[in-house]
Amino acid sequence: MQYSAKVMDHFANPRNVGEFSDADGVGEVGNPACGDIMKMSIIVKDNVIVDVKFKTFGCGAAIATSSISTEMIKGKTLEEALKLTNKAVAEALDGLPPAKMHCSVLAEEAIEAAIDDYLKKKTGKGLEKKKEHAHDEHHEH
Ligand code: FES
Repeated sequence: MQYSAKVMDHFANPRNVGEFSDADGVGEVGNPACGDIMKMSIIVKDNVIVDVKFKTFGCGAAIATSSISTEMIKGKTLEEALKLTNKAVAEALDGLPPAKMHCSVLAEEAIEAAIDDYLKKKTGKGLEKKKEHAHDEHHEH
């Protein structure tokens, strides 16, 4: 399986690893296709994600996608961060092998779950409409 240099870089040197003890929102999601788990913690100020950290118990593609997605949403508003798609994440990594595209869904979902958690804590109400996630694209690992 051929990975881009960017995937290898983010896998070998993942950015923003960890979690915050005072996170404003935490999202933990599992990939039903493989059982891998990703946890995103966000710090939100004035509707902007000022900091984000992740922990991923999963494959290299899941680690690389969560790493680059933290860079992509830091400094963004909640609305902008929600627009991040797994395709955009994969493109930012110069592509993923087709069999690993399902791994990138985890990052998109974990961000959404963290924002949902933040909104629930803040307003008592989570996201109105959850996005549809393309889980069934590729199941082989
Ligand atoms: S996220 Fe499970 S194999 Fe990649």
